[in-house]
Amino acid sequence: MTTIQVPLSGGRTYPVLVGQGVTSQIEKFLPFDAQRAAVVTQPGIGVSVDLNVDCKIFNIANGESAKTLTSIEDLCRSFVDWGLTRDDVIIGVGGGVVTDVAGFAASIYHRGIAVVHVATTLLAQIDAAIGGKTGVNLPEGKNLVGSFWQPASVLCDTENLSTLPEAEMRNGFGEMAKYHFLSGEKFDHLDLEERIARCVEIKASVVAADEKDTGGRAVLNYGHTLGHALEVAKGFDIRHGEAVAIGLVYAAELAFALERIDESRVEEHRKLVTGYGLETSLPKGVEPDDLVGLMSRDKKAIDGITFVLDGPDGIEVVSNVDRELVRVTLERLR
Ligand code: GLY
Repeated sequence: MTTIQVPLSGGRTYPVLVGQGVTSQIEKFLPFDAQRAAVVTQPGIGVSVDLNVDCKIFNIANGESAKTLTSIEDLCRSFVDWGLTRDDVIIGVGGGVVTDVAGFAASIYHRGIAVVHVATTLLAQIDAAIGGKTGVNLPEGKNLVGSFWQPASVLCDTENLSTLPEAEMRNGFGEMAKYHFLSGEKFDHLDLEERIARCVEIKASVVAADEKDTGGRAVLNYGHTLGHALEVAKGFDIRHGEAVAIGLVYAAELAFALERIDESRVEEHRKLVTGYGLETSLPKGVEPDDLVGLMSRDKKAIDGITFVLDGPDGIEVVSNVDRELVRVTLERLR
């Protein structure tokens, strides 16, 4: 088992435990005064937690459709009905949807109560559950309402990954690939538990430097500009991590076109992404012009598009990338 501390401003810190069976340690991480634990999960998750305090399960809908303000209101009203107080605790058991919803509800219930995340997917273990971003969607777009609310602790039990469908593992591997480039090190030879711990360490250091996402945390969006566009483009289904994987290769091609990196570095991106069993080409039928439109809509820049790109000084935000270059470079991923 590995414990990684996420250090925050004002001396705050919280542990992330990574390893086989770490869920059994949950009692140690509940607030001292908690009498009750509200377990927020989804019917499909099938992971239980064993607690000595009074405990009740609050199911939210399966899938992304659970990320609504209505879910938050329903949860908070059910918490009141049950008598959950601000000294108690919410436990989010699930993937990113659960940690986003449980975290957001925790941040506003009684103006904020403690939340512990039991992250059950690879994606949640290395990204969603760490760093305190919570939120829900509006009809106008994803994650438009939310808060920063750091968990009291996060448990990444690798035992839960053994039953995850292969597609869900690939979803996590897309984000895992990202961390290799953020840290500038290759760690794909490590076993899965060590790799998860390494990803958590990298994310923890980025969050520690910019908890509220006012600058440096943007590097966590490496591969996400095209990734987000692919996720909302019509005509095919693609998971977040799969879209990010293509986005990473695209970001490398774009950095090469801007003479920020050489061809061998682009090849490193392709090799690593392929090594994780992920696609490096655009899905069939997708039009580069449509993707350029979607990527521009995502960003504030008027003349060009903002990307997170590799370069001589590492991964950084690059604004105002020429639209025509963006479009032509997409052709290289056909
Ligand atoms: N998932 C991106 C972030 O936590 O900032």
